[in-house]
Amino acid sequence: MGKDKLRKFAENLTFECFVQPAFEEMFRTDHPLKGNWRKDFFHNDNPIVLELGCGKGEYTVALAERNPDKNFIGVDIKGARIWRGAKTATERKMGNVGFLRARIEFITSLFAEGEVDEIWITFPDPQLRTKRAKKRLTAPIFLEYYSKLLAKDGWINLKTDSQHLFQYTSAVIEQFGLECEVANNDIYGSGYADEVLSVKTAYEQMYLERGLPITYTRFQLGERKEFPMFDWEGDDILEKDAEEERKKSAHQ
Ligand SMILES: C[S@@+](CC[C@H](N)C(=O)[O-])C[C@H]1O[C@@H](n2cnc3c(N)ncnc32)[C@H](O)[C@@H]1O
Repeated sequence: MGKDKLRKFAENLTFECFVQPAFEEMFRTDHPLKGNWRKDFFHNDNPIVLELGCGKGEYTVALAERNPDKNFIGVDIKGARIWRGAKTATERKMGNVGFLRARIEFITSLFAEGEVDEIWITFPDPQLRTKRAKKRLTAPIFLEYYSKLLAKDGWINLKTDSQHLFQYTSAVIEQFGLECEVANNDIYGSGYADEVLSVKTAYEQMYLERGLPITYTRFQLGERKEFPMFDWEGDDILEKDAEEERKKSAHQ
């Protein structure tokens, strides 16, 4: 492993905003912070917003700066990426920011029912192969996880360049009769992007440079708790978008 990565991993452990649960603290057990993030981590009673697959945490930091009355936690498995956000939050002395290095699959071991008020999913891997559809962060299994921690009126926000993931997510919303406030397939081209939606992540910047339109979906799970897996016909009939382009950029 490169020296720079090791340095970042070590520095992460010095940041107060950084949490790295041990495997045994999440696997088939509840982490000590589950149900206690407000009391034991943020020391306030404010709403909690998650950014899943946050990478360098651009949304976590940008939203936290604009909303000092809310708490924000960026979640990602890659320590060297998360380091960027944790370093910025530390340098700016932001008390309403946390970064959690964990797999999203363990999220129900980390947050209690209703503990989360909103979720942002920013430029997740679209998992274009049909066989990997269940790994998409808006696949039924993930919605089931989110339903276990998200307040019933909590919004899920998805920003993606992938038209395939955008359409898949619309199909999931329709399949389960979920409330969808926005499904916009080109937020800049349509003039929909406001100040918050115009915050650009590292991946978004890359896709914009290639001229890819950026999509945005905002929906709620309501009271639904069960999300059975289903086959989406779009996986068979629609052309998968920009796969080669994406592979080229995966090293950044
Ligand atoms: C394509 S990158 C986007 C990063 C950032 N949101 C952006 O827009 O620049 C996807 C991120 O999701 C993270 N990720 C993917 N699957 C994950 C999982 N199961 N648990 C935690 N993080 C995951 C990756 O480590 C990566 O940083």
